[in-house]
Amino acid sequence: MSAHLRDDDRPLPAWTTRCVSCHAGTPTAAAFAPPLTHDSLLAATQRRGGPISHYDATAFCRAVREGVDPAGVLLRKSMPRYRIADAQCMALWRYVVHQ
Ligand code: HEC
Repeated sequence: MSAHLRDDDRPLPAWTTRCVSCHAGTPTAAAFAPPLTHDSLLAATQRRGGPISHYDATAFCRAVREGVDPAGVLLRKSMPRYRIADAQCMALWRYVVHQ
């Protein structure tokens, strides 16, 4: 699954793009990236100062591909953008919401 950073067309090396490298699953403010779990993604809450929102499969795949959250707020540049097929993204969504 290839990925790149915003404003940079070069593909990232594969060893940098595994979700778990950054999303450690610990819900602490100190974590580099937010947890990817059922509770954190489905909760209706404010993210990044935007309006209250929650993820569904479509919003999740948009975040992974385009770096925009369900409220339309741009994610930090440190979240890569992935090239991922619909079926693969749906499988990833089902996997993370079972965490
Ligand atoms: C290089 C580090 C890095 C990698 C690898 C990475 N992410 Fe992220 N991701 C981040 C950061 C940092 C944020 C927080 C961005 C922000 O708050 O603006 C984020 C945010 C997200 C969000 C939004 C979460 C929320 O609570 O709004 C989703 C969804 C997400 N990442 C999914 C993924 C998936 C799926 C993968 C693997 C396919 C992945 N990320 C790989 C760094 C990473």
